[in-house]
Amino acid sequence: MLRTIIVGTGHHVPERVVTNNDLSKLMTTSDEWITQRTGIKERHFTDGTECGTDLAKVACERALQMAGRTPADVDLIIYATLSPDHEFPGSGCFIQPKLGITPGTPALDVRNQCSGFIYGLHVGDALIRQGLYKNVLLVGAEVHSHGLDFSDRGRDVAVLFGDGAAAVLLSPVEDDSRGVLASVIHSDGRSARDLWLEAPGCFGKPRVNLQHVEEGRHFPRMEGRKVFVNAIQKMPEAVQEVLARAGQKVEDLSLFIAHQANLRICDGVAQRLGLPPDKVYNNIQRYGNTTAASIPLALDECVRAGRLKQGDLVCLAAFGAGYTWGAALLRW
Ligand code: ACO
Repeated sequence: MLRTIIVGTGHHVPERVVTNNDLSKLMTTSDEWITQRTGIKERHFTDGTECGTDLAKVACERALQMAGRTPADVDLIIYATLSPDHEFPGSGCFIQPKLGITPGTPALDVRNQCSGFIYGLHVGDALIRQGLYKNVLLVGAEVHSHGLDFSDRGRDVAVLFGDGAAAVLLSPVEDDSRGVLASVIHSDGRSARDLWLEAPGCFGKPRVNLQHVEEGRHFPRMEGRKVFVNAIQKMPEAVQEVLARAGQKVEDLSLFIAHQANLRICDGVAQRLGLPPDKVYNNIQRYGNTTAASIPLALDECVRAGRLKQGDLVCLAAFGAGYTWGAALLRW
């Protein structure tokens, strides 16, 4: 039976580090407020010239190098982002020539925000298990800093996010005991407006106008408390779902990585699951919320730090705008 394994991981963040104190020069906020509410101490922002596919390129090269593959080996690109380089075509098309991937290789764009990586993994895994692809490059990349409202109006959202990219290379293996054992994805569109970026969009004609801009409707807006409550509820549910599907228990897990939305959310999810801190990895303190990049970025740090050994049971979970959420269970 075919299973999907992760054969390479890589990440890349822009050089510029922006601390909470740096943000407090732009808006009324403080290191104390941000740290207490979110756990975030700093994040990386571009210098204004790099776009998502620039960050993704380096992350993908690192993942390919770890896997011992070249861009010519890639037979499917899955690119997850909520901050694409352009409205269309999708960033998957832009990364293809940037990386030197063979023209003709399909490029699938995933627009599922913080759950983008789990959605991409779910789809990539299904296609690999069908025997359709052998080297699926799955990348999550975000440049939030170009689209946040750094005035007091947008401070609840602006302090949360950071720029970054991370990638994995997925390949098939004929070994029932390894790889992706189960994955689930969900959505509830009734809450789509709890966290969203309204304009530009075809809800209006033209897609964006001066009034939208004056009202800040071209910036992300969020009902923070609602998002918080739902994230803490839905991620553990998805984890229990994948564990049940694979016939495993929370106690069997070696490593748990939740989407790095907010340290209080990550801690709340781990607590609900009854996971001890040594089985949980968080890095939001250093990167902020990098949305589609956050799970593979944390995974790559764990891999490179030697935290994972063959046979370990790893669980990944995400929740984000949409609402969308999901989880994946892998035997390393
Ligand atoms: N600095 C200082 N004060 C702020 C800031 C800021 N950056 N942002 C908001 N405030 C103020 C508010 O205006 C409010 O002031 P008021 O009481 O005078 O009206 C006060 O702080 C408290 O605001 P709340 O929104 O009640 O604060 P809360 O404790 O809910 O924390 C937060 C806000 C951190 C956004 C929280 O709701 C949260 O973490 N929500 C989850 C959202 C999230 O993680 N989103 C990430 C994207 S989605 C995802 O990845 C899952």
